[in-house]
Amino acid sequence: MATDSSSCRTPSTWSTEEPADSNVVPVADQWREQQSSPVFDYDDELRFYREHFRSACAIQAGDHVLDVGCGAGQTTRDAARAATDGQVVGVDISERMLEQARRTSLPNTTYLPADAAVHDFPPASFDVCISRFGTMFFADPVAAFANLRRALRPGGRLVLLVWQPRDANEWADAIPSALGGTPSDDSPFTLGDADRTRDLLTAAGFTGLHVTAVREPVYYGSDAETAYANVLRLREPQQLLAALDADAAERARAALRRTLAAHETRDGVLFDASAWIVTGVTPDAGDPDVGSGDGRSTQ
Ligand SMILES: C[S@@+](CC[C@H](N)C(=O)[O-])C[C@H]1O[C@@H](n2cnc3c(N)ncnc32)[C@H](O)[C@@H]1O
Repeated sequence: MATDSSSCRTPSTWSTEEPADSNVVPVADQWREQQSSPVFDYDDELRFYREHFRSACAIQAGDHVLDVGCGAGQTTRDAARAATDGQVVGVDISERMLEQARRTSLPNTTYLPADAAVHDFPPASFDVCISRFGTMFFADPVAAFANLRRALRPGGRLVLLVWQPRDANEWADAIPSALGGTPSDDSPFTLGDADRTRDLLTAAGFTGLHVTAVREPVYYGSDAETAYANVLRLREPQQLLAALDADAAERARAALRRTLAAHETRDGVLFDASAWIVTGVTPDAGDPDVGSGDGRSTQ
């Protein structure tokens, strides 16, 4: 994380312009620089989404797969187990996340530290591009998705899991509010407007787009104390607490504990959440659409 975390504000993720304020740390850099140790366990948080995503990916034995923002690599490994005769590349901008992923590598997985938005992937080298909550942070999403589209072969598939808007995600308000803060990090929700997401993927050159809702809770731990420790590994709570003086931070921590206790269930500490599964394809070689979607931002 940038050392002065209180100055880390999120620039408009739709803008293609450089942030005017030099204190603004671009979202991708916030991920690149994250230092929280141990890193937040997204696999646990997203446990109820795993099967939805795995089945939407429908990876075949011979597939070559690119997993964007692969984090600790659970989805990379799930894809690799299905792609028995294929290969899976997990790309992530955060070395900390890739360190975790490499600990449980499979023979047909490789990990690439890179910014997927601009990395020069070999053209037409993948059959499927997947991402579980790793594509909402691009500064110029049309250009970034056009870059991913070029990495896919003609007729290649895109499968994304992205958050619906903030107001469909209880966790997104409940946690910052418990800490007495105003939710300020909108980066997870930049693909939450389904129509807009369809438009930007079309502008990036994808066709055959489908958006399907998935409503499952997020999981923060087996009990409130475990959840408390987990939630404090997240970027936004850390930033909110860092902005408070010692007494206010103590009160905020107590309020967070109460909120987490109120969400304790037999299945753990759960908050309502909703996502979209977005699928699309790259045009086939003979398709008249080939050549459209040059990645110029429509913003
Ligand atoms: C919310 S986490 C999800 C991680 C993982 N996909 C999962 O489901 O457990 C988002 C991940 O995207 C990565 N990320 C963000 N922007 C990226 C970019 N431009 N290129 C590559 N990775 C990126 C972050 O480092 C982080 O690991």
